[in-house]
Amino acid sequence: MNTITSIEDLKKLTEKQKKENSKYNKIVTLCAGTGCCASGCLSVLSSLRNELKHKKLTKKIKIRTTGCHGFCEQGPLMVIEPENVFYCHLKPEDIPEIISKTLLNDKIIERLLYADPASGKKIIHEKDIPFYKAQDRAVLGQNKLVDPCSINDYIANGGYSALIKILTSMKPDEVIKEIKKSGLRGRGGGGFPTGRKWEFCRGASGKPKYVICNADEGDPGAYMDRSVLEGNPHAIIEGMLIGAYAIGAEHGYIYVRNEYPLAVEH
Ligand code: FES
Repeated sequence: MNTITSIEDLKKLTEKQKKENSKYNKIVTLCAGTGCCASGCLSVLSSLRNELKHKKLTKKIKIRTTGCHGFCEQGPLMVIEPENVFYCHLKPEDIPEIISKTLLNDKIIERLLYADPASGKKIIHEKDIPFYKAQDRAVLGQNKLVDPCSINDYIANGGYSALIKILTSMKPDEVIKEIKKSGLRGRGGGGFPTGRKWEFCRGASGKPKYVICNADEGDPGAYMDRSVLEGNPHAIIEGMLIGAYAIGAEHGYIYVRNEYPLAVEH
C-alpha cells in the first residue's frame, strides 16, 4: 500500500497504474454486481479465471470484476476492451470459445451479442447499444472502469484528484462556492442544493461536526445508492472527505443496509 502525501505522489501513482493496465492486450470487464450475481456471473468468473490460468494467459489478459453496468436484465455480461465488444447472457461453457475466438483472435461470437429488440439487429459494441447511447451516465458510468475492491483502479481513473486539488489549493468557502455554482443537488427526491446544505452546516455552531452518508434508500425498488456503493465506493469516500473539509467535520459515517451485503463488503 502506497502512502500519498502530495499531489505529485498521486500523479505518479496514477501514471503507474495506467501503465500497469496498458501492459495487457485485453481487459475483460465482467459485471459482478448483485443483479449479475443473481443470474450466475460468479460461475462465469470462475470459469474465466480457471481457463486463463490453465492457458497461461493471465499476464496478457486482465479480468476486472465490477459493480453494476446498469443493464442487469442482460446479465451475466462482459465488455472486452479495448474493442468495446459486449457479450450478454453468458454461461460458464461460453468461456473457452470467448478465449479462443475473441480474446486471442479478435473474432466475434454472433450468438453472444445483444440483439436490438426493435430491429432484431445484433450489436457488437457496447457504445452502440440504444440503452447506453441514450444515456449520459454521470454517476454510474465509472462503474465499469473500476474494480470496487481496488483503490489503485479508482486512482488510475482520476480518483482522489479532486480531494487533493481542494486540499492543496482551495479554502473551504471556495469549495462551497464552487459546489453552489455547479448546481449540484441531492438525488434522494427533494433535490436540495448541495452547496446551500454545506453552507448551512459550515455556519452552524457546535462541535464536533459529522458527515453522514445516508445510503438507506427507503423508496421501494430504488437501487441507485446500492449501485454506487457496490460499484464505486471510493467515489463516495472522496465525496464525503470533500464535504467534510468544506463544512469543517472531523468524522463521517456511512449508513448502509444490512440487506446489501456486497455494498457492505465494498
Ligand atoms: S448487476 Fe450486472 S448489469 Fe446490473
